[in-house]
Amino acid sequence: MAKIQMKTPLVEMDGDEMTRILWQMIKDELILPFIDLKSEYYDLGLKHRDETDDQVTLDAAYANKKYGVSVKCATITPNPARVREYGLKEMWKSPNGTIRAVLDGTVFRTPIIVKGIEPCVRNWKCPITIARHAYGDVYKNAEIRVPGKGEAKLVFTGEDGTRIEEPIFSFDGPGVIQGIHNTDKSIESFARSCFSYALDQKKDLWFATKDTISKTYDRQFKEIFETVAKSYRERFEAAGISYFYTLIDDAVARIMKSEGGMIWACKNYDGDVFSDMLSSSFGSLAMMTSVLISPDGNYEYEAAHGTVQRHYYRHLKGEETSTNSVATIFAWTGALRKRGELDGIKDLMDFADRLEEATLKTIEGGVMTGDLCRITTIPNPKQVNSLGFIQAIRKKLEEQMEA
Ligand SMILES: NC(=O)c1ccc[n+]([C@@H]2O[C@H](COP(=O)([O-])OP(=O)(O)OC[C@H]3O[C@@H](n4cnc5c(N)ncnc54)[C@H](O)[C@@H]3O)[C@@H](O)[C@H]2O)c1
Repeated sequence: MAKIQMKTPLVEMDGDEMTRILWQMIKDELILPFIDLKSEYYDLGLKHRDETDDQVTLDAAYANKKYGVSVKCATITPNPARVREYGLKEMWKSPNGTIRAVLDGTVFRTPIIVKGIEPCVRNWKCPITIARHAYGDVYKNAEIRVPGKGEAKLVFTGEDGTRIEEPIFSFDGPGVIQGIHNTDKSIESFARSCFSYALDQKKDLWFATKDTISKTYDRQFKEIFETVAKSYRERFEAAGISYFYTLIDDAVARIMKSEGGMIWACKNYDGDVFSDMLSSSFGSLAMMTSVLISPDGNYEYEAAHGTVQRHYYRHLKGEETSTNSVATIFAWTGALRKRGELDGIKDLMDFADRLEEATLKTIEGGVMTGDLCRITTIPNPKQVNSLGFIQAIRKKLEEQMEA
């Protein structure tokens, strides 16, 4: 069969450890036999990041900005132990943080639903996508350990000399203070990414804050979302979807009772907490996709999980691994589908659909990796190794193509 041709290169960002091993297997077994892959390759493996003083991460991020779509393998974010392990010149920043800083944008995480891996919450029938605002709040805070009795104030000094002061607290003894911020620009760009993604996916958009308590800070989020909602009202109506705002505690209660299927826009901390809650309730971190979408239309697809370090050390010792490649396969299909959509290549979009179907059918047929065997409701599942799983998917894919 003739291989599918591409027009624009896909930006390919390779990564680390076990996911780097899976990356090559996925390419060899599921991509290269079917697609004449046009990719611009960047090696974001930690060794190469160190050799290039992390320039390769910036180059990859700018390539993503140039071509619009990238697929990224999980990468190590160095900590002191990694600096020693790899003999790094310095503790390089998180590649995801660097890419996000170049592209701006919002990360959308969606569980992959498959029969036989049932969510803990029985009424969740459709995936819930979390959109996390990845800027500011407690993640860019300033903190003081208060040593003893004294006054704490919030002070803003404008460039023009304006001074705004607000008392925080009169301390009788030791305590703590925290200052957080956000900007209208970042909140608006978050809101726009969410509305645009909801429209793209034809799903309802939910947003929640605690504006009854935080009457200025959270209220600003609510008002910016309302303003952006107005500009999307007609397009939402035409698509048959809606925007829903409520308080964060009410949102959590309603989500638990819902059937799912919505995009849930979350402030930074809420997104951090609830994305992990969702991934574990839907089954496994290895069954969660992640896409970064910038307000000017750039896409970066990846798996939501990390480099699966423990499996890699076993692999290095020559032991067999049974690592789940589903989220990494879906990162490839997401990126190929989007590339096909932007370049008008229907075959590429159809291929992405087929590969996803073959992946899910393989699991539904009882063939899966160890992590899924432990939680599946399918009787007598067959556990296969990392390569065996990918080869089983290839077999299904080829059967589908011949049918
Ligand atoms: N997006 C990214 O690039 C990203 C995200 C998170 C962590 N990391 C990096 O990954 C490395 C390892 O971090 P970690 O151990 O906290 O996270 P991890 O996601 O690699 O693993 C967490 C746990 O989930 C299990 N798991 C995750 N993915 C799996 C899969 N595909 N198949 C089977 N089991 C799976 C692992 O066994 C482990 O117990 C760290 O160096 C970290 O910096 C990268």
